[in-house]
Amino acid sequence: MESTEETRQPIEALCEQLDAAFREDPRGTSVAGLLEAYTQEHGDWEAYRHFLEGAYTRNLVHRTEDYELLLLCWGAGQESPVHNHMGQRCWMAIVEGEVEEVHYRRQDGAPGPLIEGPTKRYGLGQAAFINDDIALHLVRGADGRAASSLHVYAKPYDVCLIYDLQTGAESAKTLSYHSVEGVVSGA
Ligand code: SIN
Repeated sequence: MESTEETRQPIEALCEQLDAAFREDPRGTSVAGLLEAYTQEHGDWEAYRHFLEGAYTRNLVHRTEDYELLLLCWGAGQESPVHNHMGQRCWMAIVEGEVEEVHYRRQDGAPGPLIEGPTKRYGLGQAAFINDDIALHLVRGADGRAASSLHVYAKPYDVCLIYDLQTGAESAKTLSYHSVEGVVSGA
């Protein structure tokens, strides 16, 4: 992402702030605040906004060794599978609509259906945090409506584990990008 001080977009400034934040503190203690400040004031994330029929899209904004920043676009009725976060720390901030996440955990010991935890709802400009100690989760637009959210994963990962709700069975899922820095993959 090359730009001068004068042409730098707010989302590029956010990436620079995130670069510095993770250099200073790999735990990312200032990330939620940076995301909230950005999402409450700026709309240039729209350059990364792509909806697709049939599946939510993962749009890469910026990736370093320390973290990746994505815009996820949730079409009406679309949701992620129940998944883990590969031991990484993950933040989400809402830029369009409202998003809900449903927490799950596995049965202790024996295999079996996942146990449902709380459903949490986030509105415009709100940030949320999750890691594997908190829960597995699924994410979707609230009330079956379309929404978009910025996500930070630290460190980045390209495969996660997904879970069958009924059996608790776990399998690996390769994560891909629908677009990279605004350009739709394969376009
Ligand atoms: C994803 O990154 O595809 C799912 C959303 C999340 O983990 O919050």
